Amino acid sequence: MPDKAPDPLLHKHGYLGTPVSRVDGQRKVKGEARFAAEFEIENLAYAVPVCSTIAKGRITTIDASDAERSPGVIATVTAQNAPKMKRPPLMDVRHMDKGFAASDLAVLQDGEISWDGQPVAVVVAETLEQAEHAASLVRVEYVEKTARVSFEDLKAEATVPSAVMGEDPELAIGNPEKAFAAAAFKVDNVYRTPHYNHNAIEPHAAIAAWDEDGRLTVFDSTQFVNGCKHALAGIFGLNAENVRVIAPFVGGGFGGKAALWNHTALCAAAAKVANCPVKMALSREEVFRLIGGRTPSEQRVALGADEDGKFAAIIHTGVTATTTHAKFPEQFSLTPRHLYASRTMSVGQKVVNLDTVANTWMRAPGESIGTFALESAIDELAYEMKIDPVELRRLNEPEKDPTKGTEFSSRHLVEAFRRGAEKFGWSGRPAEPCSQRDGKWLIGQGVATAYYPVFRFPAAVRLRISADGSAVVQAAANEMGMGTATVQIQHAADRLGLPLEMVSFRYGDSDLPDSPIIAGGSSQTGSIAAAVQVAVEKAHRELVKLAGNGSPLAGANVEIEARDGGLFVSGEESRGETYASILKRAGRDFIEVEETSGMPFEVMKYSMASYGAQFCEARVNHESGEVRISRWLGSFDCGRILNPKTAVSQLRGGIVMGIGMALAEETLLDTRRGRIMNPSLAEYHVPVHLDVPHIEIIYNDIPDEHTPLGAHGVGEIGITGAAAAIANAIFHATGKRIRDLPITLDKLL
Ligand code: MOS
Repeated sequence: MPDKAPDPLLHKHGYLGTPVSRVDGQRKVKGEARFAAEFEIENLAYAVPVCSTIAKGRITTIDASDAERSPGVIATVTAQNAPKMKRPPLMDVRHMDKGFAASDLAVLQDGEISWDGQPVAVVVAETLEQAEHAASLVRVEYVEKTARVSFEDLKAEATVPSAVMGEDPELAIGNPEKAFAAAAFKVDNVYRTPHYNHNAIEPHAAIAAWDEDGRLTVFDSTQFVNGCKHALAGIFGLNAENVRVIAPFVGGGFGGKAALWNHTALCAAAAKVANCPVKMALSREEVFRLIGGRTPSEQRVALGADEDGKFAAIIHTGVTATTTHAKFPEQFSLTPRHLYASRTMSVGQKVVNLDTVANTWMRAPGESIGTFALESAIDELAYEMKIDPVELRRLNEPEKDPTKGTEFSSRHLVEAFRRGAEKFGWSGRPAEPCSQRDGKWLIGQGVATAYYPVFRFPAAVRLRISADGSAVVQAAANEMGMGTATVQIQHAADRLGLPLEMVSFRYGDSDLPDSPIIAGGSSQTGSIAAAVQVAVEKAHRELVKLAGNGSPLAGANVEIEARDGGLFVSGEESRGETYASILKRAGRDFIEVEETSGMPFEVMKYSMASYGAQFCEARVNHESGEVRISRWLGSFDCGRILNPKTAVSQLRGGIVMGIGMALAEETLLDTRRGRIMNPSLAEYHVPVHLDVPHIEIIYNDIPDEHTPLGAHGVGEIGITGAAAAIANAIFHATGKRIRDLPITLDKLL
């Protein structure tokens, strides 16, 4: 950036850029890692929710007398005796510091029912089994109203939301319908994606305990400890400093643990009523009932191209669903704004309210379903034009952001396609569909673009350097298994000139510096990195001062560099002093500094995103319709890769989730009653080992000069483009174009 000196670590490789194994890995594989439900607390009681069996209406009577007489029961909580709980604010990236919940309904405050599965009571008992049995004895009577649950039936009522992620929900350049009508080549189709539910390996869980002074401590499986702290403080009318949320290990989140959900507030309420610490660990079925997932969508994509292959029109519009209490229009229409050059463009989305559990973020919300539609359509157009789909994308690569008009901070998508195509052997692929066969198996190869924007939030970091020469970085960050701690240790070690084993990272505790560090939006690593940088710089300034006149650094009116465990004058081999020596001479055990990184203004100045090219080979059994993914190569452009081991693992994980999205996962709602019919992993299918081939990942590793450490996020982009690559490969294999996810075998017969 012109207003700042370049970061000396931007291109330099120390620990950053090397495949350091996860610092938490050993504890996890040895079973020593403690997840939210596993903390041992004295006097712990067990809470089980009673969930509504209607989707819309009002409770007339609720009779918990049998439950209360049941063995081991300590308390039942209903709207009659629940503590006062206020409505929490909704998820909003512009107010990250306030924390938020996925639904803004007040929990257990009245008898109104807004979805099938909504908690209407909680039973607390001495054991889980006693609580489960007693919960089955609670009798609830309702007056039912007609529930609005069928997206198919209600999509025509959709209206334009006030904003989509803070942007105008509709945007047009030129006259796209006219340009489309006059285009030499065109496709115009509708794509559908279903409801999806979150199925992290660790089901949602919380343990809540109140102390005598009214302070609340919660162990929560969350990807946002500070967000939960602020949301809980608001709900219970507490000062934020009287709430502590702890989450050292989280078994996957994918956006499903980014906001506060009812069970955490209910757990705290139950602990208050029962007057003892309470655990509420949701069963897999309860996760389906209480925790929302991805919205269904119907998207129209119309593409027109001129004779020279340049896009004349991109029209990408459609409908998603939300609820009155979630108000989250999943942003599929933001994707086409930044991907391709086109003479004209029209993008927009509408949203319809359903009486369902609040929909929420789910890995690359918007981009994952948006790229399915757009990247399928581009493939369809390529066949229309008889042009290679990689070539069609190259021809329409924009020089500037197509709708913002700004420069790209760093975009090397064409290079990712070139390298990916070479490694995958794309040039050997026959152009015609249905041209490869191996016995019963039809074989095809497909490609799609992956895209996910760069987000960053201000973050606070506390850094302590001790007289034994060690350093501790502390931030209220969240570790779901992505390598959060590992990468920041690599980073801090490089900046401090310390060996890796002398640096540690404390995280997962809202008592650490308060800032909106969320393990979401693929933003966490960059957000913390910016704060670590300023914290280290501050610590170095203080150490130079502390060193004083007796130090070899004294009077050094020159550049100082960190290496060999201390500070040295640049260019002078031995003129310097270790941290240990500076601190000991000053009679100090440690120094501690706290710094906050600034607003990420670069995001406004540039168009910033991660990019990728997904190459997939699918085999389709022409007798049974069974699909097997046989090869995958993801070629990514995500700035500088800070740790190849953890980054590649994230990208692979995203692709695995994309295979599930494309071929297996689908939440089935009984559209008469709004009840989820497949709330288990036996009926809601996710990919297992045999469904996933070896996934090869390559990356450009070109640093972005405008981001912390030159990196872009890698957490979400892997799922984007994946479903389209699969649909495109299936078309290439079979000649059948499936525009309806998931692509189950019945659709291929
Ligand atoms: Mo991500 S869907 O922001 O965890």
